[in-house]
Amino acid sequence: MLLRYQIMLEQAKALIDGERRVMPTLSNLSALIWESMDTINWAGFYVTAGEGKLLLGPFQGKPACLHIDFGKGVCGTAAATKQTQVVPDVHRFPGHIACDSESRSEVVVPMLDSEGNVVAVLDMDSPVESRFGPDEVEALEAVARLAADHCGWKDFRP
Ligand code: SME
Repeated sequence: MLLRYQIMLEQAKALIDGERRVMPTLSNLSALIWESMDTINWAGFYVTAGEGKLLLGPFQGKPACLHIDFGKGVCGTAAATKQTQVVPDVHRFPGHIACDSESRSEVVVPMLDSEGNVVAVLDMDSPVESRFGPDEVEALEAVARLAADHCGWKDFRP
């Protein structure tokens, strides 16, 4: 992993140490990613709230849409497939949900609990085409896994 992303991951561990509740954990991680990556215009989380439904969670950036169904847009596709979605050009992704017309590229990483249920997704947007390469995907998947493993999802009532 690139050194700057190794540092981000170490900072992430330190920032959530001693607190397993979802809201403060995801809040600090969205702020950390926002500060650690350049040319980003949105960084945050949607959390699973009910069967097949994502709800806006902690984030940095412009206001965003509140609800996304599994299967809809990039976030919903990541949640439905349990696969990271890397979108080099959002204009070429059918059904992309445009929260900010500035966004050109996007990556969404699904977060699974210990039983394999999707509990949240990590969503990153950039005004730059093809902003998210293998280095970014590796780093963001590591942060998403850290958060998924760290939080007490059973007690979480979104
Ligand atoms: N573009 C996303 C919607 C969320 S915003 O980017 C914050 C999507 O298509 O899932």
